[in-house]
Amino acid sequence: MDVRSEIESAVTAAALAALGEDARDADPLVVPAKDPRFGDYQANLAMGLGKKLGRKPRELGEAIAVELGKAVHEGDPIASAEVAGPGFVNLTLSTPALRQRAAAMRANDRLGVATANTADRQTVVVDYSSPNVAKEMHVGHLRSTVIGDCIARVLEATGQRVVRQNHLGDWGTQFGMLIEHLAEVSETHARTPEGEPIAIGDLNAFYQEAKRRFDDDEAFADRSRRRVVALQSGDEATMDMWHELVGESLKHFDAAYQRLGVGLTRDEVRGESAYNDRLADTVDALDAKGRLRESQGARVVYPPGFVDREGEPMPMIVRKSDGGFLYATTDLAAIRFRLHELHADRLVYVVDARQAQHFAMVFAEAREAGFAGDDARLEYVGFGMVLGKDRKPFKTRSGGTVRLADVMDEAVTRARAAVTEKNPKLSDTEADDVAEAVGIGAIKYADLSSDRIKDYVFDWDRMLTLEGNTAPYLLNAYVRIRSIFRKGEIDPAAIVAEPACDEPQERALVLRLLEYPRVVASVADTLEPHRLCNHLYELASAYHKFYEHCPVLKDDVAPDTRDARLALCDLVARTLHHGLGLLGIRTVERM
Ligand code: ARG
Repeated sequence: MDVRSEIESAVTAAALAALGEDARDADPLVVPAKDPRFGDYQANLAMGLGKKLGRKPRELGEAIAVELGKAVHEGDPIASAEVAGPGFVNLTLSTPALRQRAAAMRANDRLGVATANTADRQTVVVDYSSPNVAKEMHVGHLRSTVIGDCIARVLEATGQRVVRQNHLGDWGTQFGMLIEHLAEVSETHARTPEGEPIAIGDLNAFYQEAKRRFDDDEAFADRSRRRVVALQSGDEATMDMWHELVGESLKHFDAAYQRLGVGLTRDEVRGESAYNDRLADTVDALDAKGRLRESQGARVVYPPGFVDREGEPMPMIVRKSDGGFLYATTDLAAIRFRLHELHADRLVYVVDARQAQHFAMVFAEAREAGFAGDDARLEYVGFGMVLGKDRKPFKTRSGGTVRLADVMDEAVTRARAAVTEKNPKLSDTEADDVAEAVGIGAIKYADLSSDRIKDYVFDWDRMLTLEGNTAPYLLNAYVRIRSIFRKGEIDPAAIVAEPACDEPQERALVLRLLEYPRVVASVADTLEPHRLCNHLYELASAYHKFYEHCPVLKDDVAPDTRDARLALCDLVARTLHHGLGLLGIRTVERM
């Protein structure tokens, strides 16, 4: 149990003892104190109870504080309790208890992060990244990839069984024009020695060229439409070209995942096409439930709770009049597959905010049609757009979409310059490696640290600065600690002392550390990575304060103090490493 939960139980017990059954269901509302002069934590339950019981909160707070004071005995986390203001209860924790809990955290491989036991373990599908074939990944896909990867890692760390799903956009009528274009350029264009068509080396250019021909050339558009039919009927030559397009795109995506350090493999690719032979079935199932209506020749459903501006029920098309299926049909089929065949308890969709309505409708329909039972948790994890510094959609100087690969290159180049400036003594190979970690880490952190639902401003200077809530700042704190151990030639594992907790900076640091398991749990619940970023940032800030005030290796530091401080440093380093790992950010030993 984490220390805050311990305090909460103590407060609940004290309220019960002081006020009787009336206090039974009161939420203890324990939060870290804003100012160390008011103790370490504050319980805010007296106000709510006062209202409920019609009594003065201050009196209730007083009674709870007295009860907490009585209960104090050795090993208890609470050393003293005092009523304050309108009825807050300020709590000061016992130093030995803090020290002991910090030592226990340090002795634990998971740093106290609670994992679900077998009975509560859930299977969670995380649908993320999901780029589109024959289009290069852009910064918008970056967000889904980075946020989704972090969420998958956090859920795994809390003991859930995570199934990653890359819902690749690999099907649809646009493939008619892409394949037709490929067929025609393959005839006229040379191939590489490996037989690869040179034409699709640059996916964006390839896509645009196909699109331009489709729009401008009526005959080509006709041939493209015939291709769609050929594709749908599984024509062999057409399928071969489709495979070629998908394979070529996956190569690009794999390279991006590799460089981003994102754990998405080919096994986790289950694109839209994977549901093709389940679509008719899905529509039949909707029909069997009496959900299907006809509208202008198309099959539609009316998910409950959705009306348009005129107050008319809003339809969701599941089958077009020409027999074709849609994006929504595929998502309904995927829900059935994920819940019933992957046996998921919870489905998480990390997709940009423009698709919020799509998922709301799909979820509502899945419930109504009985595809998803009441206990299935369906969650849409939306995120805002990537904006440039001018607060307009992030574009290249010439106004084009920014390619992910270019963003990564630029981040690493910029980081390389910063790293060389900070530490000119690094060898070229090490500087390259550090720059890769810092540059990629900076992009990811900038994305994860902002409240995901808001648009986020892509700002090179801000994400790479060593000051403030950035990856370089956190990595620097980690590096600083590692250099202490290196300088002292000390193996952290050899330090058996309990972490230091006497100086105010040490105490602040320990309190911050002990909150870590709770922060991880809250991210697993809310799916908001910025909570973890904020916590790590505050941890690093607390460490910098400690570092300024509390010497570790200086000659005049007593051996016991030195060891206790080393133990504290080690715990901070490991927590930063663990936390950055959950964010998908690699640490370095020097920078
Ligand atoms: N390929 C889609 C896009 O780029 C995202 C797919 C999201 N996942 C899903 N199950 N619909 O917009």
